[in-house]
Amino acid sequence: MERFRIAGEARLEGSVEVAGAKNSVLKLMAAALLAEGTTTLRQVPGILDVTFMAQLLDTLGCSVKVDGDTGTATIAVPAEIGHQCDYELVRKLRASISVLGPLLARCGQAEVALPGGDNIGSRGLNMHVAGLEAMGAKVHIEHGFVIAEAPQGLQGAEVWLDFPSVGATETIMMAAVLARGTTVIENAAREPEIQDIAELLIEMGARIEGAGSPRIEVTGVQGLLNPVDHLVVPDRIVSGSWAFAAAITKGDVTVTNGRAEHLELPLDKLHKAGADISVPAAGGFRVRMPDRPKSVDVVTLPYPGFPTDLQAFCIAMNAVSDGAAMVTENLFEGRFTFAQELTRLGAQVQTDGHHAVIRGVPRLSGAPVVASDIRAGAALVVAGLAAEGETIVAAAHHVHRGYTDFAGNLRRLGADVVVEPDDADPYWN
Ligand code: EPU
Repeated sequence: MERFRIAGEARLEGSVEVAGAKNSVLKLMAAALLAEGTTTLRQVPGILDVTFMAQLLDTLGCSVKVDGDTGTATIAVPAEIGHQCDYELVRKLRASISVLGPLLARCGQAEVALPGGDNIGSRGLNMHVAGLEAMGAKVHIEHGFVIAEAPQGLQGAEVWLDFPSVGATETIMMAAVLARGTTVIENAAREPEIQDIAELLIEMGARIEGAGSPRIEVTGVQGLLNPVDHLVVPDRIVSGSWAFAAAITKGDVTVTNGRAEHLELPLDKLHKAGADISVPAAGGFRVRMPDRPKSVDVVTLPYPGFPTDLQAFCIAMNAVSDGAAMVTENLFEGRFTFAQELTRLGAQVQTDGHHAVIRGVPRLSGAPVVASDIRAGAALVVAGLAAEGETIVAAAHHVHRGYTDFAGNLRRLGADVVVEPDDADPYWN
């Protein structure tokens, strides 16, 4: 167990580089299963979830090497692969469900332990299952496993999603690339990571149109796809985290490699809060907050709406703002656990169902707190920077799952933050 120790009253200033997106690279690694041979991914982030996904692919018979220095992952996929993923790895990494589609497409069968809930709320699989069933698969749940079978192969179908689920769109898209005929996904998720996965699959030989729009059309191809070399799309959530961190600490941060076009709404909210935003011709973007932020209302929605993954940062900014704001969470009900924890730093936050009302205070005060998920953990660390005195954020592993060297990057931006061993009560797990 580790924890962050944060010295308060810091101002972040300087440049930070962002690697590839966690929520793309994990699925790209799963998509590599669709080709025999070695797929290479570049700009891979140095995060725990990549390590877990590499271990999961290893158990299926692949050989995965991740080079942290160059940010390169090579995934060597043999002619014969396994189709069973057991609970020990799946429970560490919910994204492991993304092997379901590729395994079913390639092997005609897949058995993946149910990921279970996590600290951000219930996370159903009904749309993944309904999509695969529409394509002719038989799917049932037994002894904690999702068992999917399509011995004759999958058949293209029209699939309507009740909600533009990121995971369901990916499962169906990846399953459809080797199906007979054409699959149409209506009300598909439009996140940049979906486009990145579609680009990889197209480079591998798949036929996909419309990724990034609500209607994705996949025409199945015969045989396997081909291994390729692919640059992972930069992480918009990590980029957005740095943007909010600049605002919360009244700092001046340039996110090199960040894509402003993937963060239109969050950057607009930061602008409304008083930040100067600029987009240099060389790429990336810069966020400078000259004064105490003004409060801003936010409603989380699927892309291109405001991302749920930046909601905690938005609450943290409102907590030190001049004014009052309402933040509405529409995707994951458990994400307000963060708001409760933030009150330990003196924030004035009240939650009621989907809504949090935040009244800004001039300064937070440092205290021991606990991270409940990746984004909550990172936002608590940043809130600690804006607090008076010292803040301890326990359960640092949550942050390690999604942010490359978070403490090191904060130090390079001028903060005094360390990660240290934590032998406190394991209940904090
Ligand atoms: N849902 C269902 N049934 C389904 C699928 C989803 O009810 O079959 C519900 C979920 O319970 C949730 C909502 O739909 O309430 C959204 O789920 P979605 O499938 O869109 O999200 P996800 O694929 O489970 C990914 C990211 C999350 C990110 C969300 C929303 C990965 C590994 N995870 O989750 O990222 O918050 O999309 O953008 O890609 C994070 O990075 O910290 C993180 C949690």
